[in-house]
Amino acid sequence: MRSLIVYGTRHGFTGEIARKLAALVPESETADISSRAPGDLRPFDRIIVGGPVYNGSLLGEVRRFCRRNLSELLGKRTALFVVGISGRETLQQYLDASFPGELQKRSTANGLFSGRIEGDRLNAFERLVVRNVKKIRGSVLLFDEKDLDAFAEKLEADHA
Ligand SMILES: Cc1cc2nc3c(=O)[nH]c(=O)nc-3n(C[C@H](O)[C@H](O)[C@H](O)COP(=O)(O)O)c2cc1C
Repeated sequence: MRSLIVYGTRHGFTGEIARKLAALVPESETADISSRAPGDLRPFDRIIVGGPVYNGSLLGEVRRFCRRNLSELLGKRTALFVVGISGRETLQQYLDASFPGELQKRSTANGLFSGRIEGDRLNAFERLVVRNVKKIRGSVLLFDEKDLDAFAEKLEADHA
């Protein structure tokens, strides 16, 4: 089964997650829709879609990708994930609010991944938001490999 991992990113961490996932999922490749159009989805049996949360919303590119390709996505196996620094309950709420309901219903795995903030990569406005709203100074890495392993296991079970 060929899988495409479609992701958006602003500061690169979701790309790192997507590449780690690709290393765990046989016959998979990644497509960064923040830097170029996703290309032809037809050769793939499964599309795994995900992206980071910024200021309470999943990245716009990822939401648009799902809307524009909804009928094609509904005809394939799918899985979804979000990346953020909030707790699991809030990440689940972002996922519920961000992806079309029909897609959520049909998806075989929902990944909630804790993200990374690298203070040096942020612009002045982002730094202000992170400091004042998120109460974070400098950098944090919250990602837990176990969450990715659990997601990959669910994908493997779908494959079997
Ligand atoms: C300005 C800013 C706002 C953010 N807002 C949220 C948020 O509302 N909820 C959340 O869970 N994470 C939030 N995050 C954390 C990002 O989702 C996290 O840093 C993620 O790993 C970024 O992924 P990327 O490097 O692929 O862009 C925010 C980060 C920044 C810099």
